[in-house]
Amino acid sequence: METKIFDQSQLNEAAAILAEGGLVAFPTETVYGLGASALLPNAVAQVYQVKGRPSDNPLIVHIAEPEQLEPFVDNKHPFADKLMETFWPGPLTLIFSIKKDSLPSIVTGGLSTAAFRMPNNTKTLALIKQAQQPLVGPSANTSGKPSPTSAAHVQHDLAGKIAGILDDGVTQIGVESTVLDLSDPTAPPVILRPGAISKEQLEAVLQTKVLVDQHLVTESEAPKAPGMKYKHYAPNTNVMMVNDQDWSAAMAWAKEQQLKVGVLAGPTIAEQVRFEAAAIYLFFDDSVEAATKGLFAGLRALDESIAELDILFAPTFPESGLGAAYMNRLKKAANQSFFQEN
Ligand code: TXA
Ligand code: MG
Repeated sequence: METKIFDQSQLNEAAAILAEGGLVAFPTETVYGLGASALLPNAVAQVYQVKGRPSDNPLIVHIAEPEQLEPFVDNKHPFADKLMETFWPGPLTLIFSIKKDSLPSIVTGGLSTAAFRMPNNTKTLALIKQAQQPLVGPSANTSGKPSPTSAAHVQHDLAGKIAGILDDGVTQIGVESTVLDLSDPTAPPVILRPGAISKEQLEAVLQTKVLVDQHLVTESEAPKAPGMKYKHYAPNTNVMMVNDQDWSAAMAWAKEQQLKVGVLAGPTIAEQVRFEAAAIYLFFDDSVEAATKGLFAGLRALDESIAELDILFAPTFPESGLGAAYMNRLKKAANQSFFQEN
């Protein structure tokens, strides 16, 4: 199958493919999603297949307007409307309990709940409208690879396996949406996956405590968020996290071990390590926003670097606001390992 690159003028063509059960990757403000009609079980089955994703890991249903929830959701959480009003379209996925059999079980992983999100990308919102159905959209990467933040990443992983990619350049945020569990209308909201909409922002809007659930599920439990059970975001090269004050010690250690080091960093750290690093992936500036935007692209680029690196170093950030989302992804990529002087 030839994977076509669609631009905005070809939205009709892309929407028609989706309506007929084909697969088209779409841009969002977070990462690229692998689109298929959420109402066509055969199309959704292909999504799992081309990604190589375990089929008990449920998908997010992407909608173009809140009214599209109606066929699926009735018993909405009291906080739902306020959150949709404030954060949609945007990087917030909401889990609701759904009407029985309103979605194919292959979408929900057989759960009585489902995840919904209205992405903040005008082309994709238009695509969903034209396809006239909600779209599932897991990140458009091979399962286990960093999520794609450009059409080129999607092509790298899925070329030949999907009908097309709607190209809208590099995604703005760089990590996947915040997943918030609102499935029990009598319980407080629980963050299942941190994203660009932070716990602090949610608490400010709701004027209530928001819980965070990041526990690793056991084999017998169904996973509630990606990465809980399955290895995620892991490049082939080992990754190590480096705290601000530890960069010179980390570089010295690597030299002593004769390791070729790739560094992901903003300009200040890059300047500090530039004579010792074998390759550098430079974030746009020193901010956590720039690091988050560049993290997956940087991991992909250095992982495939012709320098054949032995180890990748990446900077840590305080775990609040967007930093919680950045560190959540980085810790998974680094398998929790921090550089420590001994
Ligand atoms: O930013 C994003 O959310 C991107 C873009 C493309 O929209 N999509 C994305 O999808 O990250 P995915 O499938 O890679 O991650 C969604 C995760 C699922 O893996 C699942 O663990 C969780 O959301 N999820 C989905 N339905 C759920 C449910 N009913 N209960 C609990 N968690 C659920
Ligand atoms: Mg994913």
